[in-house]
Amino acid sequence: MSDIPRFTWGADGVTPAMLEAYGRDGVLVIDGFKSAEDCDRLIERADVLVDGFDPEQERTVFSTTSRAHAAADYFAGSGDKIRFFLEEEALDADGRLTRPKHQAINKIGHAMHDLDPVFDAFSHDPRLDELARALGQAQPKLLQSMYIWKPPMIGGEVVCHQDSTFLTTDPLSVVGFWFALEDATVDNGCMWGIPGGHLGPLRNRFHYDDAGRLVTEKLDDTPFEEDRKVCLEAPKGTLIVLHGSFPHLSGPNRSPKSRRAYTLHVIDGACTYLPDNWLKRGADMPLRGFV
Ligand code: FE2
Repeated sequence: MSDIPRFTWGADGVTPAMLEAYGRDGVLVIDGFKSAEDCDRLIERADVLVDGFDPEQERTVFSTTSRAHAAADYFAGSGDKIRFFLEEEALDADGRLTRPKHQAINKIGHAMHDLDPVFDAFSHDPRLDELARALGQAQPKLLQSMYIWKPPMIGGEVVCHQDSTFLTTDPLSVVGFWFALEDATVDNGCMWGIPGGHLGPLRNRFHYDDAGRLVTEKLDDTPFEEDRKVCLEAPKGTLIVLHGSFPHLSGPNRSPKSRRAYTLHVIDGACTYLPDNWLKRGADMPLRGFV
Protein backbone atom coordinates (compact mmCIF):
# COMPACT_ATOMS: atom_id res chain seq x y z
CA MET A 1 0.00 0.00 0.00
CA SER A 2 1.15 3.54 -0.66
CA ASP A 3 1.18 6.58 1.58
CA ILE A 4 -1.98 7.88 -0.06
CA PRO A 5 -4.51 8.30 2.76
CA ARG A 6 -7.51 5.98 2.79
CA PHE A 7 -10.97 6.97 3.88
CA THR A 8 -14.33 5.38 4.58
CA TRP A 9 -17.72 6.91 3.85
CA GLY A 10 -19.52 7.80 7.05
CA ALA A 11 -22.58 9.73 8.16
CA ASP A 12 -20.76 13.01 7.53
CA GLY A 13 -20.36 12.24 3.82
CA VAL A 14 -17.58 14.28 2.26
CA THR A 15 -15.19 15.52 4.97
CA PRO A 16 -12.63 18.36 4.97
CA ALA A 17 -9.87 15.73 5.20
CA MET A 18 -11.11 14.11 1.98
CA LEU A 19 -11.12 17.45 0.17
CA GLU A 20 -7.65 18.24 1.44
CA ALA A 21 -6.29 14.89 0.23
CA TYR A 22 -7.93 15.28 -3.19
CA GLY A 23 -6.63 18.81 -3.61
CA ARG A 24 -3.10 17.77 -2.65
CA ASP A 25 -2.84 14.37 -4.36
CA GLY A 26 -5.40 14.55 -7.18
CA VAL A 27 -6.77 11.22 -6.01
CA LEU A 28 -9.09 10.13 -3.22
CA VAL A 29 -9.40 6.53 -1.99
CA ILE A 30 -12.58 5.50 -0.16
CA ASP A 31 -12.58 1.89 1.03
CA GLY A 32 -15.80 -0.11 1.22
CA PHE A 33 -17.79 2.49 -0.73
CA LYS A 34 -19.81 -0.19 -2.53
CA SER A 35 -20.95 -3.42 -0.89
CA ALA A 36 -19.73 -6.81 -2.08
CA GLU A 37 -23.33 -7.50 -3.17
CA ASP A 38 -23.39 -4.37 -5.34
CA CYS A 39 -20.11 -5.42 -6.96
CA ASP A 40 -21.34 -8.97 -7.55
CA ARG A 41 -24.57 -7.70 -9.10
CA LEU A 42 -22.56 -5.70 -11.66
CA ILE A 43 -20.25 -8.64 -12.40
CA GLU A 44 -23.23 -10.95 -12.97
CA ARG A 45 -24.90 -8.39 -15.21
CA ALA A 46 -21.76 -7.87 -17.29
CA ASP A 47 -21.55 -11.65 -17.78
CA VAL A 48 -25.11 -11.58 -19.15
CA LEU A 49 -24.23 -8.73 -21.52
CA VAL A 50 -21.23 -10.68 -22.80
CA ASP A 51 -23.50 -13.71 -23.35
CA GLY A 52 -25.21 -11.60 -26.02
CA PHE A 53 -21.97 -10.44 -27.67
CA ASP A 54 -20.96 -12.21 -30.88
CA PRO A 55 -17.20 -11.89 -31.33
CA GLU A 56 -17.59 -13.25 -34.88
CA GLN A 57 -19.38 -10.01 -35.76
CA GLU A 58 -17.04 -7.54 -34.12
CA ARG A 59 -13.44 -8.11 -33.23
CA THR A 60 -12.11 -4.77 -32.10
CA VAL A 61 -9.03 -4.86 -29.94
CA PHE A 62 -8.62 -2.11 -27.37
CA SER A 63 -5.01 -1.17 -26.77
CA THR A 64 -3.62 1.96 -25.13
CA THR A 65 -0.22 1.13 -26.59
CA SER A 66 -1.13 0.73 -30.28
CA ARG A 67 -4.44 2.68 -30.27
CA ALA A 68 -5.54 0.34 -33.07
CA HIS A 69 -9.12 0.76 -31.89
CA ALA A 70 -9.11 4.43 -32.86
CA ALA A 71 -9.47 3.50 -36.52
CA ALA A 72 -12.52 1.37 -35.92
CA ASP A 73 -16.02 2.73 -36.42
CA TYR A 74 -17.17 0.24 -33.80
CA PHE A 75 -15.17 2.18 -31.23
CA ALA A 76 -15.96 5.66 -32.58
CA GLY A 77 -19.69 4.98 -32.47
CA SER A 78 -19.71 3.50 -28.97
CA GLY A 79 -20.28 6.72 -27.00
CA ASP A 80 -23.99 6.08 -26.65
CA LYS A 81 -23.96 2.29 -26.98
CA ILE A 82 -22.94 -0.86 -25.11
CA ARG A 83 -20.03 -2.35 -27.04
CA PHE A 84 -17.35 -4.94 -26.36
CA PHE A 85 -13.61 -4.62 -26.90
CA LEU A 86 -11.14 -7.49 -26.88
CA GLU A 87 -7.74 -7.95 -25.33
CA GLU A 88 -4.83 -7.69 -27.74
CA GLU A 89 -3.55 -11.13 -26.76
CA ALA A 90 -6.98 -12.77 -27.11
CA LEU A 91 -6.65 -13.11 -30.90
CA ASP A 92 -4.27 -15.28 -32.88
CA ALA A 93 -2.49 -14.20 -36.08
CA ASP A 94 -5.61 -15.09 -38.09
CA GLY A 95 -7.86 -13.01 -35.86
CA ARG A 96 -9.45 -15.98 -34.14
CA LEU A 97 -10.19 -15.96 -30.41
CA THR A 98 -7.66 -17.99 -28.47
CA ARG A 99 -9.96 -18.42 -25.46
CA PRO A 100 -13.66 -18.27 -24.49
CA LYS A 101 -15.14 -14.81 -25.05
CA HIS A 102 -15.77 -14.25 -21.34
CA GLN A 103 -12.01 -14.41 -20.79
CA ALA A 104 -11.12 -12.29 -23.80
CA ILE A 105 -12.85 -8.97 -23.03
CA ASN A 106 -10.72 -5.90 -22.39
CA LYS A 107 -13.66 -3.65 -21.66
CA ILE A 108 -17.30 -2.83 -22.26
CA GLY A 109 -18.27 0.78 -23.02
CA HIS A 110 -19.48 3.45 -23.02
CA ALA A 111 -23.10 4.09 -22.02
CA MET A 112 -24.16 1.24 -19.74
CA HIS A 113 -25.06 3.82 -17.11
CA ASP A 114 -27.90 5.00 -19.37
CA LEU A 115 -28.83 1.85 -21.28
CA ASP A 116 -28.74 -0.97 -18.75
CA PRO A 117 -30.91 -0.93 -15.62
CA VAL A 118 -28.39 -2.70 -13.36
CA PHE A 119 -25.54 -0.40 -14.38
CA ASP A 120 -27.91 2.57 -14.14
CA ALA A 121 -28.75 1.71 -10.53
CA PHE A 122 -25.08 1.23 -9.56
CA SER A 123 -24.07 4.50 -11.25
CA HIS A 124 -26.83 6.84 -10.11
CA ASP A 125 -25.70 6.97 -6.51
CA PRO A 126 -26.62 10.18 -4.61
CA ARG A 127 -23.32 9.95 -2.70
CA LEU A 128 -21.46 10.43 -5.97
CA ASP A 129 -23.48 13.57 -6.62
CA GLU A 130 -22.43 14.88 -3.21
CA LEU A 131 -18.80 14.01 -3.97
CA ALA A 132 -18.78 15.59 -7.42
CA ARG A 133 -20.30 18.81 -6.14
CA ALA A 134 -17.90 18.96 -3.19
CA LEU A 135 -15.02 18.53 -5.66
CA GLY A 136 -16.16 21.60 -7.56
CA GLN A 137 -18.66 20.46 -10.19
CA ALA A 138 -21.67 22.81 -10.40
CA GLN A 139 -23.75 20.41 -12.55
CA PRO A 140 -22.33 16.86 -12.43
CA LYS A 141 -23.26 14.94 -15.60
CA LEU A 142 -22.42 11.30 -16.31
CA LEU A 143 -20.67 11.12 -19.65
CA GLN A 144 -19.03 7.71 -19.93
CA SER A 145 -19.06 4.30 -18.28
CA MET A 146 -16.51 1.53 -18.76
CA TYR A 147 -16.42 -1.99 -17.41
CA ILE A 148 -12.78 -3.01 -17.39
CA TRP A 149 -12.14 -6.73 -17.20
CA LYS A 150 -8.37 -7.26 -16.98
CA PRO A 151 -8.77 -11.00 -17.50
CA PRO A 152 -6.29 -13.50 -16.04
CA MET A 153 -2.95 -13.91 -17.80
CA ILE A 154 -3.67 -11.57 -20.76
CA GLY A 155 -5.07 -8.39 -19.16
CA GLY A 156 -3.36 -5.53 -20.97
CA GLU A 157 -1.47 -2.63 -19.46
CA VAL A 158 -2.81 0.91 -19.52
CA VAL A 159 -0.09 3.46 -20.17
CA CYS A 160 0.27 6.60 -18.07
CA HIS A 161 -2.41 9.12 -19.03
CA GLN A 162 -4.75 11.84 -17.82
CA ASP A 163 -8.48 11.30 -18.30
CA SER A 164 -9.02 14.88 -19.57
CA THR A 165 -6.98 13.81 -22.62
CA PHE A 166 -9.98 11.81 -23.80
CA LEU A 167 -12.87 13.91 -22.52
CA THR A 168 -12.03 17.58 -22.66
CA THR A 169 -14.18 20.44 -21.45
CA ASP A 170 -13.40 24.16 -21.30
CA PRO A 171 -12.39 24.68 -18.57
CA LEU A 172 -11.24 21.15 -17.69
CA SER A 173 -13.75 19.43 -15.42
CA VAL A 174 -13.58 15.63 -15.80
CA VAL A 175 -13.64 13.57 -12.63
CA GLY A 176 -13.25 9.79 -12.75
CA PHE A 177 -14.97 7.43 -10.33
CA TRP A 178 -13.23 4.05 -10.39
CA PHE A 179 -14.73 1.10 -8.49
CA ALA A 180 -12.87 -2.09 -7.64
CA LEU A 181 -15.37 -4.91 -8.33
CA GLU A 182 -12.70 -7.43 -7.26
CA ASP A 183 -9.55 -6.99 -5.20
CA ALA A 184 -7.02 -5.04 -7.27
CA THR A 185 -3.44 -5.85 -6.28
CA VAL A 186 0.03 -5.34 -7.70
CA ASP A 187 -0.16 -8.95 -8.96
CA ASN A 188 -3.32 -8.56 -11.04
CA GLY A 189 -2.63 -5.09 -12.38
CA CYS A 190 -3.89 -2.50 -9.90
CA MET A 191 -3.80 1.18 -10.69
CA TRP A 192 -0.77 3.35 -10.02
CA GLY A 193 -0.69 7.12 -9.92
CA ILE A 194 1.57 10.11 -9.39
CA PRO A 195 0.50 12.05 -6.27
CA GLY A 196 0.21 15.76 -6.99
CA GLY A 197 0.64 15.16 -10.72
CA HIS A 198 -2.77 16.70 -11.40
CA LEU A 199 -1.20 20.11 -10.74
CA GLY A 200 0.84 19.76 -13.94
CA PRO A 201 -0.37 20.55 -17.47
CA LEU A 202 -2.59 18.41 -19.68
CA ARG A 203 -0.07 16.60 -21.94
CA ASN A 204 -2.21 15.29 -24.80
CA ARG A 205 -5.62 15.51 -26.41
CA PHE A 206 -7.26 12.61 -28.22
CA HIS A 207 -9.77 14.15 -30.62
CA TYR A 208 -11.01 14.46 -34.21
CA ASP A 209 -8.86 16.51 -36.54
CA ASP A 210 -10.17 18.64 -39.43
CA ALA A 211 -10.06 15.60 -41.73
CA GLY A 212 -12.31 13.60 -39.39
CA ARG A 213 -9.56 11.32 -38.12
CA LEU A 214 -8.98 10.52 -34.47
CA VAL A 215 -5.56 11.81 -33.48
CA THR A 216 -3.50 12.28 -30.35
CA GLU A 217 -2.31 15.88 -30.23
CA LYS A 218 0.68 16.78 -28.06
CA LEU A 219 -0.12 19.83 -25.94
CA ASP A 220 2.83 19.83 -23.55
CA ASP A 221 6.16 17.97 -23.55
CA THR A 222 6.59 17.78 -19.77
CA PRO A 223 7.23 14.09 -19.00
CA PHE A 224 5.19 12.26 -16.38
CA GLU A 225 7.29 11.66 -13.26
CA GLU A 226 6.69 7.93 -13.34
CA ASP A 227 9.51 7.29 -10.87
CA ARG A 228 7.24 8.93 -8.26
CA LYS A 229 4.30 6.63 -8.93
CA VAL A 230 2.60 4.89 -6.02
CA CYS A 231 0.42 1.83 -6.20
CA LEU A 232 -3.27 2.22 -5.49
CA GLU A 233 -4.19 -1.27 -4.38
CA ALA A 234 -7.92 -1.48 -3.85
CA PRO A 235 -9.92 -4.16 -2.07
CA LYS A 236 -13.29 -5.05 -3.59
CA GLY A 237 -15.79 -2.21 -3.12
CA THR A 238 -13.17 0.56 -2.99
CA LEU A 239 -13.88 3.81 -4.81
CA ILE A 240 -10.94 5.74 -6.22
CA VAL A 241 -11.78 9.29 -7.31
CA LEU A 242 -9.44 10.67 -9.97
CA HIS A 243 -8.92 14.31 -10.91
CA GLY A 244 -9.06 14.62 -14.71
CA SER A 245 -5.41 15.72 -14.82
CA PHE A 246 -4.15 13.02 -12.40
CA PRO A 247 -1.55 10.86 -14.21
CA HIS A 248 -2.32 7.17 -13.71
CA LEU A 249 -1.57 3.82 -15.26
CA SER A 250 -1.90 0.10 -14.62
CA GLY A 251 0.26 -2.87 -15.37
CA PRO A 252 -0.66 -6.03 -17.28
CA ASN A 253 -2.38 -8.88 -15.50
CA ARG A 254 -0.23 -12.01 -15.70
CA SER A 255 -1.85 -13.56 -12.63
CA PRO A 256 -4.58 -16.22 -12.57
CA LYS A 257 -7.05 -13.71 -11.04
CA SER A 258 -9.11 -11.23 -13.02
CA ARG A 259 -9.23 -7.59 -11.96
CA ARG A 260 -12.67 -6.34 -12.87
CA ALA A 261 -13.37 -2.65 -12.30
CA TYR A 262 -16.02 -0.12 -13.30
CA THR A 263 -15.43 3.52 -14.08
CA LEU A 264 -17.64 6.54 -14.54
CA HIS A 265 -16.43 9.78 -16.05
CA VAL A 266 -18.34 12.84 -15.04
CA ILE A 267 -18.14 16.37 -16.42
CA ASP A 268 -19.50 19.68 -15.22
CA GLY A 269 -22.51 20.61 -17.34
CA ALA A 270 -21.62 24.26 -16.69
CA CYS A 271 -18.45 23.82 -18.78
CA THR A 272 -18.25 23.54 -22.57
CA TYR A 273 -17.87 20.02 -23.99
CA LEU A 274 -15.47 20.41 -26.91
CA PRO A 275 -17.16 19.40 -30.17
CA ASP A 276 -14.09 17.54 -31.47
CA ASN A 277 -14.05 15.10 -28.54
CA TRP A 278 -14.16 11.46 -29.66
CA LEU A 279 -17.20 10.59 -27.54
CA LYS A 280 -20.44 11.49 -29.29
CA ARG A 281 -23.96 10.92 -28.09
CA GLY A 282 -27.20 11.10 -30.05
CA ALA A 283 -29.54 14.02 -29.49
CA ASP A 284 -32.00 11.56 -27.99
CA MET A 285 -29.59 10.80 -25.14
CA PRO A 286 -28.94 14.04 -23.24
CA LEU A 287 -26.51 13.76 -20.33
CA ARG A 288 -28.08 12.98 -16.97
CA GLY A 289 -26.98 13.81 -13.46
CA PHE A 290 -26.63 11.34 -10.59
CA VAL A 291 -30.01 12.16 -9.06
FE1 FE2 B 1 -7.90 6.66 -16.88
